[in-house]
Amino acid sequence: MPADLSPIDKAKFAAARRAVDYVEAGMKIGLGTGSTSAWMVRCLAERIRDEGLKVTGVPTSSRTAALARELGVPLATLEDVKWLDLTIDGADEFDANLNLIKGGGAALLQEKIVATASDRMIVIADAAKEVSHLGAFPLPVEVIPFGWQTTRALIEETLFSFDVLGRDVTIRMSGDHPIKTDEANYILDLHLRRIGNPRQLALVLNQIPGVVENGLFIDICDTVVIGKGDGRVTIRDINTGRVEEDQIFLDRDDNIFADLGD
Ligand code: 5RP
Repeated sequence: MPADLSPIDKAKFAAARRAVDYVEAGMKIGLGTGSTSAWMVRCLAERIRDEGLKVTGVPTSSRTAALARELGVPLATLEDVKWLDLTIDGADEFDANLNLIKGGGAALLQEKIVATASDRMIVIADAAKEVSHLGAFPLPVEVIPFGWQTTRALIEETLFSFDVLGRDVTIRMSGDHPIKTDEANYILDLHLRRIGNPRQLALVLNQIPGVVENGLFIDICDTVVIGKGDGRVTIRDINTGRVEEDQIFLDRDDNIFADLGD
């Protein structure tokens, strides 16, 4: 492992490495998006290479697809496989019920479709992602470009009937232009600071014309694997209530890090 990897990256790696132990031969796996998921794709590629593990990955973004392809992870589309055994993905926040905010990487739409089409969703995260209440991380909402200012106004109006601490809504930019998702939509970020009733907000946001999907993942995640900078991991399962502790050894010197460059 490169010595200059930050404690957060080590924590992400530890969570990803442990989560990949849940992958079994023949499984169809949803591959999440983001820096933690990128570690997971590398760890999965390592098992494919070293153990001859046969799996099929369904990526949740063009970025993840490109990385998986580069590392030799066999891919299919959701249209091809229709249903998945397991999805492993990161999150921006998770609470005690394993409800999530996702979409910091603008991939929430494909991520939600893929996770919902899976028997099990495992979230991989560093400990900083755990919150008592969702909402400090701005809630991403994917909207179609047509009339997006009107959609934003409707969202702002809707927020007045919700128990939230902030109501600013910004459009996510890349330079001078709104960023475009893989589905060619825009992302609005809702700066709510604290969401009193995430379940209700998730339902109501999706009723607003122009909203394609929101980044609240309610009752979708089954298990969270929380990594720490020293390689310790905690695994919590919402269905069984079980909590497990484990240790990932970080003093590795192999080619899983080869694609990271200097
Ligand atoms: C992408 C996501 C990511 O899973 C989320 O933003 C976490 O990213 P990272 O692992 O880089 O912290 O939802 O849309």
